[in-house]
Amino acid sequence: MRVAVVGFGKMGREVAALLPERGHEAVAVGRGDVYPEDCPVGIDFTTPAAAVGNIDRALAAGSRYVVGTTGWTESLEAVRARVDEAQGGLVHAANFSLGVNLFYAIAREAAAILAPFPAYDAYVVERHHREKKDTPSGTARVLAGLVGTSVPISSVRAGGIVGDHVVGFDSGGDEILLEHRARNRRGFALGAVLAAEWIATRRGVHGFDAVLEDLRRSSH
Ligand SMILES: NC(=O)c1ccc[n+]([C@@H]2O[C@H](COP(=O)([O-])OP(=O)(O)OC[C@H]3O[C@@H](n4cnc5c(N)ncnc54)[C@H](OP(=O)(O)O)[C@@H]3O)[C@@H](O)[C@H]2O)c1
Repeated sequence: MRVAVVGFGKMGREVAALLPERGHEAVAVGRGDVYPEDCPVGIDFTTPAAAVGNIDRALAAGSRYVVGTTGWTESLEAVRARVDEAQGGLVHAANFSLGVNLFYAIAREAAAILAPFPAYDAYVVERHHREKKDTPSGTARVLAGLVGTSVPISSVRAGGIVGDHVVGFDSGGDEILLEHRARNRRGFALGAVLAAEWIATRRGVHGFDAVLEDLRRSSH
């Protein structure tokens, strides 16, 4: 299918390179371009300021939409209402990497194991490249929400770090560390393309967990 690749930065280029490998055609949509009428799905990796307007353009064009852009989810409830009204379909995730989504499950389980031991304070550290615009990362916010309430998050912006997330539990006497490191952007791009294939025939607003759950079920 023809897939609108909205935003042609680091992630958009990675998505465009991957689409033909899965039998799709990439249609690049840059800043100021009209949204193409003939793309059943679009994938957005732009900026927090641009994402919500881009969603509205895709809805108006009758296109399903996958939003990888982070830092816009304070508008999620308003977006959900507009997607439902338009009978459209949208998948959003702060992180489309399969490994990070498995890491969420591990962090949740670790927090459950440590819950009876209040001596362990949970914290999250995230490290990203110097150009990343939102702080803390959307992934760090998700992790913090999974392991407790009012969990502190620390952010580093330096060089070309693709994306590292650490979840720590410190008791004063010892520390338990869980870490995920992205080595390249291909894993994010693959997850976004899988989400585009999935939402092409569906309606409503979904997280990547719904896509992964369906893939897990269909692999049995
Ligand atoms: N969900 C995930 O798995 C995941 C993974 C990695 C990154 N991200 C997120 O994805 C976003 C993009 O990351 P990136 O590393 O690709 O950033 P990037 O390299 O800065 O690319 C962003 C691109 O978006 C373009 N853009 C800005 N506004 C636009 C608009 N209205 N319409 C079309 N294009 C527009 C920019 O064009 P100009 O050059 O003209 O400004 C730029 O080419 C960030 O929010 C990042 O946090 C998410």
